[in-house]
Amino acid sequence: MAYENLTIKTRKGILILSINREKALNALNIKTIEELHHFFAVSAPKRKKIKGIVITGTGAKAFVAGADIKEFLGMKKNGGASFAQRGQDVFFLIENFPKPVIAAVNGFSLGAGCELAMCCHMRIASEKARFGQPEVNLGIIPGYGGTQRLIQLIGKGKAMELILTGDMINAEEAHRLGLVNHVVESGKEIAKACEIIEKISTKGPIAVARSIECMNAYYDKLIDGFAFEAVQFGEVADTKDFQEGAKAFINRRAPKYIGE
Ligand code: COA
Repeated sequence: MAYENLTIKTRKGILILSINREKALNALNIKTIEELHHFFAVSAPKRKKIKGIVITGTGAKAFVAGADIKEFLGMKKNGGASFAQRGQDVFFLIENFPKPVIAAVNGFSLGAGCELAMCCHMRIASEKARFGQPEVNLGIIPGYGGTQRLIQLIGKGKAMELILTGDMINAEEAHRLGLVNHVVESGKEIAKACEIIEKISTKGPIAVARSIECMNAYYDKLIDGFAFEAVQFGEVADTKDFQEGAKAFINRRAPKYIGE
């Protein structure tokens, strides 16, 4: 499928996915949400060789400045609920992707943009990045998981303050709160994200995928995370990669993982 609002490049085995609606500050309209759904449900899982994915925004100003406000006009109860559900489904696909997905936040990351960054496994912010959940300014609430993931990342008190005031914070404050992993000079956010993915790509791929699953299980109210971890540990212990990792350690050499 050819995408209108996404651009995809590969850099040394790492896929760089850019939201590409620069004139609207990369706001996520419904078409872009559908393209992201197709990408993460259909296209990305087929690309078996990629080391991971970096998500960023096109242009120097914005990562994503929110859902597309122009599409909000006339929205009512049922349409609103399915709109939010669809976005949440896409963001769950990203959160559960078995390889690292890192947001390289190059500018405004507001509303759905902050929610998109939060469903990624990590966030690298340019010093110019700005974060916020300004939905209350428009008389609406976050709908793509913001009320849930912001609490997970920064705790309830600060999440309450950000969501109820609609205030924007800068990259340093986002770092201090634990919303972002690193703050880098503007223009270096993709390189930093790639550096982390490169490092992860030298580890056992099954161990990486199962670690992501186990950490996500912590937030699933229907799963006992400790029991889930023990089962996953057993399955990973049964892989050739685990034997290879242990042998490589004992023989003081670098492991060669095959993903089996
Ligand atoms: N949806 C649709 N269009 C958006 C948008 C959004 N979320 N955010 C920005 N745009 C558009 C603007 O309408 C404008 O388009 P125009 O030139 O056709 O009028 C263009 O992007 C540039 O935005 P502008 O507001 O002129 O830039 P700015 O530098 O003055 O302000 C922001 C930047 C990010 C502070 C401001 O655009 C903003 O507050 N955006 C909305 C953020 C928001 O509330 N997001 C949550 C939505 S639920």
